[in-house]
Amino acid sequence: MKIELVTDATAGGKKAAEYFLAAKQDGVKTFGLATGGTPVTTYAALVAGEIDFGDAVSLNLDEYVGLGANDPQSYAAYMQAHLFSQKPFAASYLPNGLASDLAAECARYDQLVAENPIGLQLLGIGENGHIGFNEPGTSFDSSTHLVNLTESTIKANARFFARENQVPRQALSMGIGTIMQAKQIILEAYGEKKAAAIKAMVKGPVTEAVPASVLQRHENVIVIVDPAAAAGLD
Ligand code: GLP
Repeated sequence: MKIELVTDATAGGKKAAEYFLAAKQDGVKTFGLATGGTPVTTYAALVAGEIDFGDAVSLNLDEYVGLGANDPQSYAAYMQAHLFSQKPFAASYLPNGLASDLAAECARYDQLVAENPIGLQLLGIGENGHIGFNEPGTSFDSSTHLVNLTESTIKANARFFARENQVPRQALSMGIGTIMQAKQIILEAYGEKKAAAIKAMVKGPVTEAVPASVLQRHENVIVIVDPAAAAGLD
């Protein structure tokens, strides 16, 4: 793993956007995208820059079950607001949280990923070490699947909802096996709440108890962190 220490989330977003531009110039056609508070500065930097995604494809990591694109809390709406409305892709895909047959939806999404191999995958990290919505204990071989969110993830994400009981209890997420197929991975983390997860990811054993630790086995990972998130590293 290559660690990029930046002063703050704004500088980190600019750094991540530089990697996007380099990947694009290198011929990458498919970008894996993430949601949450962390990548907001990356999308702001991409929007402010010259990059053109008009001939590229995006595939998002995950979506809440039960929320459609018209719901402002859905990840589809988040992506529209932060990136797609200003930097449209030729095609953008997210799992459909309103699908009536969720197993079929997962299979459809895996097929999309197979047809559009991801050149650059952006990731955040949960306080418990999750990536996408792959909670601790998820198999490293997993493909897109239905997830029951843990209490800690529900609590952490409640800040985006009016009330905690509005946070969906389930999500569809790309699997860890899916994420590991990406050619290059950028993981961003900012703030002291992420320090323990970053330490376990970088220095701890590779274990399904810490989903992000699997990234030690990937040969092209860039970790962009501020000093608070890097506090547990040497
Ligand atoms: C959610 C998302 C993840 C994200 C994580 C951290 O659970 N599914 O993709 O990395 O939260 O979110 P934040 O960046 O808001 O701390």
